[in-house]
Amino acid sequence: MKRTLVIGANGALGTDLMGIMDQAIPAVHADFDITVIDHVRTFIKKAKPKAVVNTAAFHQVPACEENYHRAFEVNAIGARNLAVVCREERIHLCHISTDYVFDGRKNAPYNEQDLPCPMNTYAVSKLAGEHMVTAYGSVDVSIVRSCGLYGAIPTRAKGGNFITNMVHLGRTRDRVTVVNDEIVAPTYTLDLAGAILLLLESKGRGIFHMTQSGHTSWFGFAKVIFDVLKLPAELVPIKASEFQSKVHRPAYSILDNRRFNQLTGHPMRHWETALRDHLRDMKAQSIF
Ligand SMILES: NC(=O)c1ccc[n+]([C@@H]2O[C@H](COP(=O)([O-])OP(=O)(O)OC[C@H]3O[C@@H](n4cnc5c(N)ncnc54)[C@H](OP(=O)(O)O)[C@@H]3O)[C@@H](O)[C@H]2O)c1
Repeated sequence: MKRTLVIGANGALGTDLMGIMDQAIPAVHADFDITVIDHVRTFIKKAKPKAVVNTAAFHQVPACEENYHRAFEVNAIGARNLAVVCREERIHLCHISTDYVFDGRKNAPYNEQDLPCPMNTYAVSKLAGEHMVTAYGSVDVSIVRSCGLYGAIPTRAKGGNFITNMVHLGRTRDRVTVVNDEIVAPTYTLDLAGAILLLLESKGRGIFHMTQSGHTSWFGFAKVIFDVLKLPAELVPIKASEFQSKVHRPAYSILDNRRFNQLTGHPMRHWETALRDHLRDMKAQSIF
């Protein structure tokens, strides 16, 4: 897929998308803010991309509670602006969304027909963004919901990711507690970038659930990190109710990837295989 515009090109997912796409066009926040439609239009008209992938988001979850105006401005109005301009220019828009649109009460993998029920402001604003893309875009849109992202480039919005947090805590504390009753599918941004490319090439339209296969808890995720990197601290499982957080998060956010798998014939690999490969790469480069 040539000449795809990657919005958020220096972010965690955006960097990996830039790395694997042929003649991709980068856009970083300094190029334009997705909340300002005139700037979006000027950039896209000049760049003339064949497709647009939007990774830009306001996704510091607790900060979204404090600043819900900005959450809706970026995650919903920003998505709307891109959908409007892509429709005007007849360009495919692929918009990145989240597993957090669900509340987790199903306790079984969510498919694309399941009714969302977001539990916090970030999640509501991302769901609003999905509706904006569908309502203002043409039929030529795709929405990718993913989960628990990590990769070589830390998430810009958070200045790190779950792995960098664990590495820091595992080397500076005697004891690290991690939640054992929130179930996730940790997803490697490089694998997700490859899957998004496949989705674009396969002309997937509508909503797609795209995560690494299998599932674990945050504790299970941490256990592999501690194991591979031989972190010295004691790792202790705790319940989410023991973890002090003002924000409600789904206890179960596994996405059923069947629609993507059937379209492309290429299921994403198991989370543990991807994670172990990534950690070994980072170790080999002396990053961890
Ligand atoms: N991280 C996760 O676990 C997770 C899970 C599920 C879904 N997602 C979704 O995955 C997507 C990508 O996440 P990521 O971890 O790659 O994010 P990231 O590293 O924070 O990258 C986001 C990029 O978007 C840019 N950006 C933010 N606001 C913008 C605006 N108003 N206009 C233009 N650019 C803007 C950022 O630039 P600046 O930093 O310069 O502002 C950054 O380059 C997001 O849509 C997120 O909601 C993430």
